[in-house]
Amino acid sequence: MTVRLRHFASFDLQPALEIEQASFPEPWSPGMFLGELSRADRIWLVAEGAAGRVIGYGGVMIVGDEAHLMNLAVAAPERRSGVGRALYDELAARAALAGARRITLEVRYDNEAALGFYRAEGLAVEAVRPGYYRGGQDALIMWGELPDVQRRVPPAGSEVVLAIETSCDETAAAVMRGGTEVLSSVVASQVDFHSRFGGVVPEIASRKHIEAIVGVVTEALDRAGLTLGHVDAIAVTHGPGLIGALVVGLAYAKGLAFATGLPLVGVNHLEGHIFANMLVDPDIEPPLVALVVSGGHTSLIHVPEWGVYLTLGETLDDAAGEAFDKVAKVLGLGYPGGPILSRLAAEGDPEAIAFPRAMMRSGDYRFSLSGLKTAVINHIRHEREAGREIHHPDLAASFQAAIVDVQVAKTVRAAEEYGVKTVCLAGGVAANPSLRESLRSALAEREITLTVPEIGLCTDNAAMIAVAGTWRLRRGDLLGLDAEAVADLRLD
Ligand code: KG4
Ligand code: ZN
Repeated sequence: MTVRLRHFASFDLQPALEIEQASFPEPWSPGMFLGELSRADRIWLVAEGAAGRVIGYGGVMIVGDEAHLMNLAVAAPERRSGVGRALYDELAARAALAGARRITLEVRYDNEAALGFYRAEGLAVEAVRPGYYRGGQDALIMWGELPDVQRRVPPAGSEVVLAIETSCDETAAAVMRGGTEVLSSVVASQVDFHSRFGGVVPEIASRKHIEAIVGVVTEALDRAGLTLGHVDAIAVTHGPGLIGALVVGLAYAKGLAFATGLPLVGVNHLEGHIFANMLVDPDIEPPLVALVVSGGHTSLIHVPEWGVYLTLGETLDDAAGEAFDKVAKVLGLGYPGGPILSRLAAEGDPEAIAFPRAMMRSGDYRFSLSGLKTAVINHIRHEREAGREIHHPDLAASFQAAIVDVQVAKTVRAAEEYGVKTVCLAGGVAANPSLRESLRSALAEREITLTVPEIGLCTDNAAMIAVAGTWRLRRGDLLGLDAEAVADLRLD
């Protein structure tokens, strides 16, 4: 029989109570179970049989280096088929992982089956507690050594991670197996609610996240064909981003982690964008240079090894995506501006209007985009005053070229200076076809490889948070339930 062990969640209470009542003369009450499940110093598991039915459960309390087996029961029809052993072994292993060296439990003096079972597990009776049970029967106290487990995480390659992302205006959840296999990725965009304001309204973003999060996470699990019980860890974006938006995803993720006992992993949104490249090529290896260009960031980052980020330069004012959004807003084209302008640009002449290439020769890796934005706005005003019609494709192409030229020049220089053979493009603006192509060919001339996520994974999504989250999980890099969202969380 195939048995699956997973955390004992509050929704397992009913089936567990049925087994409890059928198994013991003095069964635990619902309140006793609930009191146990919410405690951090406990490990509770259920065993699932066919069709996800709960067929057993067990729990231990950890006190220093001792584990106390609180309860363990298996449904009558499933006894003597290894379910109890699987539960006990897993509880013992997890208790050992939590630092326990010995395990103890009590058994009714006449429960021959249990005595035999625990003796076979290496435990021995060391004491008698007279009249321990309500009927006055004695309890036998058994003790045993726990296996010497150093660190036990789900085997790399098969961990199932549920990821949540709510840093800006997309409510997103994804389920991933083994750090590379996207089982589902759901993105509920709020764009329609923000577009009439020409940008993201933080207050609306928070409200929409609250409305969407339950449905989005449920849909991600459904599409993956899994339940929370199959999940090994929860990953969540905890910064940077809009604080009121981040808080929704983080609070929800913390609630899930608390209810299920699953580990919680915090992911930096920008690290997520960079890791989106792993979905194209899981074998990408640092050292590399990453250009992160989104609605909130324009950063050149040197990554000597995974997890180490050295910011070489950032924008001094507007982010690249922000510049696209603002220019589209001035032209009355809608939000977000990037996709709209890049579509128009494909039809225009990039040399039609000479816009400034700010910081092109600054000799460093900093960017400045507000001057370009002002130049575009002045151009539009000038043309309108002169009674001339604005040719949108030419304007879009010239504006885009001014951005792309600087991004490409600085990225190529950084790649050469740091001697890397790989460059990763990341963030919403990485969806821009002109930037992708210009950067690819400029790097190719220097025998440097460019990786770029698929267009749909450039803008905000949770699959990228799942990739980075799996990597952090493998490092044992967990977030406590007291973690807070950090609006300006830094990578370095
Ligand atoms: O990464 P993202 O989804 O959200 C943030 O973390 O900010 O990036 C969104 C930004 C928006 O400013 C949007 O206009 C821009 O990415 N963007 C583009 C394109 N597609 C999205 N910018 C230029 N060209 C595109 N094709
Ligand atoms: Zn983003």
